[in-house]
Amino acid sequence: MPYVIEHEEKEAISLEELVEYLVDNNIETAKHEEMIEAAPMLAKLGNNPTFLSDMVTKELHNYSEFQDENTYSSQVILLHPPRPDIRFFVRANIWPGKADYLTALNGTDAFFYHRPHDHNFNFLTVGYHGPGYWSDYYEYDYGDIDGYAGEDAQLRFIERSRLDKGKLMLYRAHVDVHDQLPADSFSVSLNIMENSIKNPFLDQYSYDLKNKTIKGIINQNNTDSLFQLALMSDSGNSRDVIEHIAKNHEFSRVRLNAIHALASRQYSVEQAVSVLNSYLAAPSALVRKTVEQSIRRMEQHNAKVKA
Ligand SMILES: [Fe+2]
Repeated sequence: MPYVIEHEEKEAISLEELVEYLVDNNIETAKHEEMIEAAPMLAKLGNNPTFLSDMVTKELHNYSEFQDENTYSSQVILLHPPRPDIRFFVRANIWPGKADYLTALNGTDAFFYHRPHDHNFNFLTVGYHGPGYWSDYYEYDYGDIDGYAGEDAQLRFIERSRLDKGKLMLYRAHVDVHDQLPADSFSVSLNIMENSIKNPFLDQYSYDLKNKTIKGIINQNNTDSLFQLALMSDSGNSRDVIEHIAKNHEFSRVRLNAIHALASRQYSVEQAVSVLNSYLAAPSALVRKTVEQSIRRMEQHNAKVKA
């Protein structure tokens, strides 16, 4: 369950004041205690009822540049975009109700409803507008998980609750899992997000709550397409390089991407399976189990094609 930060903040501040505070105090968003220290400032921004609509309206006047640094879906408005030299970014999230126009138009997936997941980053949140989204909250121990699909995620159910207006919480990276359910009516939350170079390398999972298992890894890691590009020709000795990465990279999911790239460049399913077979004794359970699953899928596919 995200850590609930009790407060009685009545003061309202501007977005600029929040950003200035975070920069001046060099808030280390990877550390829970520093996020908790910064939380009252987010509550104060939450007490400002007009800044968000003022900002969006102002940006709409120059629509060709509207949110041009925003790589999220339209559910998210970037209030202060990520920068390589600062450890945070600030955003607002839209949470429509089940019967809202936005949900009817886009479906519930667009708003991450009924898609249980954890986070590979810390973030603070405050309920800004409306009754707030609901969540079924769980906790798990990241260190006890290998991360392969079908693994017992050892989820512990904590409670169902919602992000009421003014409620301030710290979602802890690799601890808190939630299954979000639609808000009772249109709602908005504000976040201070951890922005760290390590995030793309640490896994964020989706879950199968029926079986209490890991469903898959959902955060992007672009090494899979990079390795594919490198292997388009071997004139630069790319095969040796990718094989080295497949055996030695510090992160198991990067090793896995290299293994899949090597297998995918083979001319037949048999050759691809032979590449995969050579990694069945890998020390990482994520690599071993995922390679096993890939071999099974390829053999099933092959049998079907030949039938
Ligand atoms: Fe989430």
